[in-house]
Amino acid sequence: LDNGLALTPPMGWLTWERFRCITDCKKYPNECISEDLIKRTADLMVSDGYLDAGYEYLGIDDCWLEKTRGEDGRMVPDKNRFPSGMKALSDYIHGKGLKFGMYEDYGNKTCAGYPGVLGNEKIDIDTFVEWEIDYLKLDGCYIDPKAMDEGYPNFGKLLNATGRPILYSCSWPAYQEDKSMRPNYGSIAEHCNLWRNWDDIEDSWASLTKIMNWFGDNQDRMASHAGPGHWNDPDMLLIGNFGLSVDQARVQMAVWAVLAAPLLMSVDLATIRPEFKEILLNKDIIAVNQDELGKQGLRVWQKKDYGLRSKLEVWKRELHDGSFAMAFVSQREDGIPYAASFTNEEMQLPKQTFEVHDLYKEEPVRSWSGSEGFEVRINPSGVKFYKFIPKKTVEIADITVKLLV
Ligand code: GLA
Repeated sequence: LDNGLALTPPMGWLTWERFRCITDCKKYPNECISEDLIKRTADLMVSDGYLDAGYEYLGIDDCWLEKTRGEDGRMVPDKNRFPSGMKALSDYIHGKGLKFGMYEDYGNKTCAGYPGVLGNEKIDIDTFVEWEIDYLKLDGCYIDPKAMDEGYPNFGKLLNATGRPILYSCSWPAYQEDKSMRPNYGSIAEHCNLWRNWDDIEDSWASLTKIMNWFGDNQDRMASHAGPGHWNDPDMLLIGNFGLSVDQARVQMAVWAVLAAPLLMSVDLATIRPEFKEILLNKDIIAVNQDELGKQGLRVWQKKDYGLRSKLEVWKRELHDGSFAMAFVSQREDGIPYAASFTNEEMQLPKQTFEVHDLYKEEPVRSWSGSEGFEVRINPSGVKFYKFIPKKTVEIADITVKLLV
């Protein structure tokens, strides 16, 4: 969507994956969807360096509404959990230098059963503009996926007509893929800043790899539609929660960087362990994700075992300065580090000399000319993530020529 927003993949934080639809603040005071959770997260995004690293959107997902609309037809935020109201919360978020994200559903109800937008488009958009939101995730439960090809663009036009820049996140293709329809990604990219393509991510290695495998298997119909202003969205980062080891968390961060995916954390920033925080704040990997060329990377090589499960794979993303981000992922589950060697052809890299930097900074920089295989050794369910920077042989030739003259 050409609205001047999301020129690089959006970065921020969303409630859903970690905090779900927890509404009982008596039992779960630190986890319920509430203004306290949002304010606490806003404070930590600033004090702990997340905003400085680029995470700027702070978003509420489902379960913030009262079960019914007000007498005037307007959406009513839950009065116990958002006692100060959304405008006050919005001011708080903006006061911290962050941007405010909200969630609604295009159908009759949200996925968790709260009031949906259908028939109330105008009044809801007016309300969001009064609350000065900056980001809207429009979900697609309780509506026929066939109606989305018209519905999502129409809603987007109304949003755009308000004159307030609001980043537009669509769940349009996710519901169509689910019904085995073939989404029109060209139209989706024209009308949305980002779009969920497929299943919800859950907090496990099984779910993460299922999503990675799907994005690899279907990359030919999707990847080319990503670019500045419009991005495929494989869903939130699980990093720092219950289900992933440190190695597995590194896999997600690396593959999401290659995929030019939105980096939307969903984690309790008050209790996140330092080793996970370090992954989320890795500047070199964020730089890959945010690379200005905006070209989504691909799974370029894969080895399967006899059960046809993916065991070892190479993901590659081309960057604006001519270098390449290369992720070597092992899905091996027998606990044995995977040692392997790759040729230029297998990695789909040009024949030249590269300076190779380990983006997780465990290995020294190496020079690799392609005359021998490129050797890697990967932890089981882990990743090695490198930047291959071409060595500037041309400049050396120029100098030589000048010296000869
Ligand atoms: C759907 C979406 C999720 C989340 C929930 C909320 O499942 O895909 O990301 O927003 O609804 O109910």
